[in-house]
Amino acid sequence: MEQPTTVTITGAGGQIGYALLFRIAAGEMLGPDRPVRLRLLEIPQGLTAAEGAALELQDCAFPLLDGVEITDDPVTGFDGANIAMLVGARPRGPGMERADLLAANAGIFGPQGAAIAAAAASDVRVVVVGNPANTNALIAAASAQGVPADRFSALTRLDHNRAVGQLAEMLDARADEIERMVIWGNHSATQFADVSSAAFRDVPVIDALAERLGGATEAVAWLDDTFLPRVAKRGAEIIEVRGSSSVASAANAALEHVRDEQRGTPWTSAAVVSRGEYGVPEGLVCSFPVTSDGSGYRVLEGIDLDERGRALFDRSVAELVSERDTVRALGVL
Ligand code: NAI
Repeated sequence: MEQPTTVTITGAGGQIGYALLFRIAAGEMLGPDRPVRLRLLEIPQGLTAAEGAALELQDCAFPLLDGVEITDDPVTGFDGANIAMLVGARPRGPGMERADLLAANAGIFGPQGAAIAAAAASDVRVVVVGNPANTNALIAAASAQGVPADRFSALTRLDHNRAVGQLAEMLDARADEIERMVIWGNHSATQFADVSSAAFRDVPVIDALAERLGGATEAVAWLDDTFLPRVAKRGAEIIEVRGSSSVASAANAALEHVRDEQRGTPWTSAAVVSRGEYGVPEGLVCSFPVTSDGSGYRVLEGIDLDERGRALFDRSVAELVSERDTVRALGVL
């Protein structure tokens, strides 16, 4: 058995936290030979919910769970953290403008980035789930002096999984028969869910869709009119139907994001700090096709985007630039 891995989860008393903690403690994220030490970081109002979850964790008697600590102090919460999952965020309140939302979250993710730099383990990897996830990750990375920027990422795996789920349903396939899906850009309605590289049983998805729908024109129409808007607006659809935002699917995506980063994957989507790949301004936290050999996500380069795909990607990158500029104007970066 290896040494325990310390996993810090912020917002652990919230809904996603509750859907996430038990699966991590059961070994689904890091595997059956890596014990975990959980650190639950909350704000004072969230502490009792986190304490309740900790009682239930104890009652599960998970063999891999090496301890649970709860705190509302970020430096204590990130002390020795090997993995940090930043879930807690400030939601958009009534009448709140986008700049207000960004400012409120900068007040969370700036200090958390600084606490990570001060206290986390030297191999720390951080994923931001709390929205606006990409720009929150940008703020945390910029505030974590001395921690390499490539340790920070933001979650677009839920968008990726949603896209795969839609394709699998249309093609009457299992999800694992759909490969090489790509989410480009921001985790927002401007994201571009790109099937142009995707394959179904080694056949290009676009050809499989044409076969299924009776022609290439029909396939393109379904992609444009149904698939793209459905994936981009799936969060709103879940709220409408379920009466509450995505929770289990978001927790699942966060777990898969960390699992694949830590244990390796040939191909998935994740938002990582741009080094200028695909012409995206350096430093933006942008979703790309990525791979991992178990030591962090790396952008897969050389994937073709046609003119229309490029325009959709550029629109999402423009939104990321504008979020960054808003945050800069607030004096945060
Ligand atoms: P929730 O409101 O149930 O829980 C959030 C928790 O965070 C609360 O317990 C709150 O006390 C805590 N919190 C707030 N500020 C904190 C801070 N400074 N430090 C530590 N904890 C803090 O919300 P839920 O449903 O768990 O969602 C969490 C976030 O995840 C939201 O921002 C949501 O928009 C985002 N989300 C992101 C998705 C993605 O794909 N990237 C998908 C779904 C949700």
